[in-house]
Amino acid sequence: MKGGYDHFMQKEIHEQPESLLQTMRGRVKFDRSPAKLGVDPYQERRVTLGGLTEHVSTIRFGRRIMLVACGTSYYACLACRQTIEELTDLPVTLELASDLMDRRCPIFRDDMCVFVSQSGETADTIQALEYAKERGALCIGITNTVGSAIARSTHCGVHINAGCEIGVASTKAYTSQMVTLTMVALALSEDSIAKRARRDEIIDSLGQLPEKVREVLLLDTEMRSLAQQLMKEESLLVFGRGYNFATALEAALKVKEVALMHSEGILAGEMKHGPLALVDENMPILVIATQDRMHAKMLSVVSQLRARNARLIIVCNKGDTGIADLVSERCRLIEVPQVVDCLQPVVNIVPLQLLSYHLTVLRGMNVDQPRNLAKSVTVT
Ligand code: UD1
Ligand code: BG6
Repeated sequence: MKGGYDHFMQKEIHEQPESLLQTMRGRVKFDRSPAKLGVDPYQERRVTLGGLTEHVSTIRFGRRIMLVACGTSYYACLACRQTIEELTDLPVTLELASDLMDRRCPIFRDDMCVFVSQSGETADTIQALEYAKERGALCIGITNTVGSAIARSTHCGVHINAGCEIGVASTKAYTSQMVTLTMVALALSEDSIAKRARRDEIIDSLGQLPEKVREVLLLDTEMRSLAQQLMKEESLLVFGRGYNFATALEAALKVKEVALMHSEGILAGEMKHGPLALVDENMPILVIATQDRMHAKMLSVVSQLRARNARLIIVCNKGDTGIADLVSERCRLIEVPQVVDCLQPVVNIVPLQLLSYHLTVLRGMNVDQPRNLAKSVTVT
């Protein structure tokens, strides 16, 4: 069942090139044909989500999009919020399902509520779905499990088709959720002329994504050696911002939930408002500084941490000379291939999943069944 791997989590991390292909199969049309006379080249690239086709215009004319989820699924929403905002020009809000219910958050008939859940059975998310339905909102599901409670209860939706995920810590479902949310943003913006160039750039990058993930999986041995270096630590801070704030939170969650090591994901923009007090020459700090609009700001974060003699591990793009100029012998680089900015979180999380996997094994913890946790939380 584990296909030659020692654990399901390890198998599911390594399955990602294939699971991402499955998520996109039959849905994304990549333009790989040579230019044809008289054919509008923009019509060649498109995203068709069978489960949403009838609802696209309703969603486009909605008042706002509200993304609702728990745990890793919530971080997938956080990672894609900017893409949905950018491509649809609609306000996008994020809700942790339990908090939405605690606040009894106002929801209206012209709200488009998207419930993201790997299992489709998470009690908090189901409760929030029933609450939104009672208020007349259009309820859209993004689930991995056909026939699950959320898939059945939503008005429409998209299956992420990542394949069965068994390890309690979500890995391949996370990357497929991000790709699905990106496809939703693309499907919702299909008729926008102003967004054509951006949409094309994203669709082209989706086409390369499985190969880029295959490439980043080659860092496995390096991540094991990094885990050996970190296994005795008590804590790991993870800094990110922009698209990769979600990567920082998800990486920290993985380290916490499976390796049982304290870890905190921090918005780099908040560094000076508290977290900097924790920085000294002993605390390991992971910084996500791949090349996007936040890059200059992340280089400045690296400089400020270096000035405090921090122990740095930096996730950066291959060939990034800006980072190379800043690093010292106390700094370790995790070099990842570059993809379009909004899909870079899909590539960036993979070495950090590998790191948390190896940390767990080296620390002698249970990889697939971490203590006190369940794959599907069916009580509130
Ligand atoms: C569907 C078929 C797929 C087939 C393809 C061919 C299913 C499950 N999927 O995929 O096997 O190859 O057509 O065209 O039979 N839905 C919800 N809530 C959710 C998720 C989905 O209501 O959380 C609904 C959708 O609105 C849709 C149906 O479930 O009506 C299937 O969704 P999805 O599998 O994403 O649709 P297709 O990709 O078109
Ligand atoms: C549990 C799982 O806490 O539920 C997490 O252990 C998961 O991995 C979370 O992210 C939410 O689950 P789901 O199925 O709604 O995505």
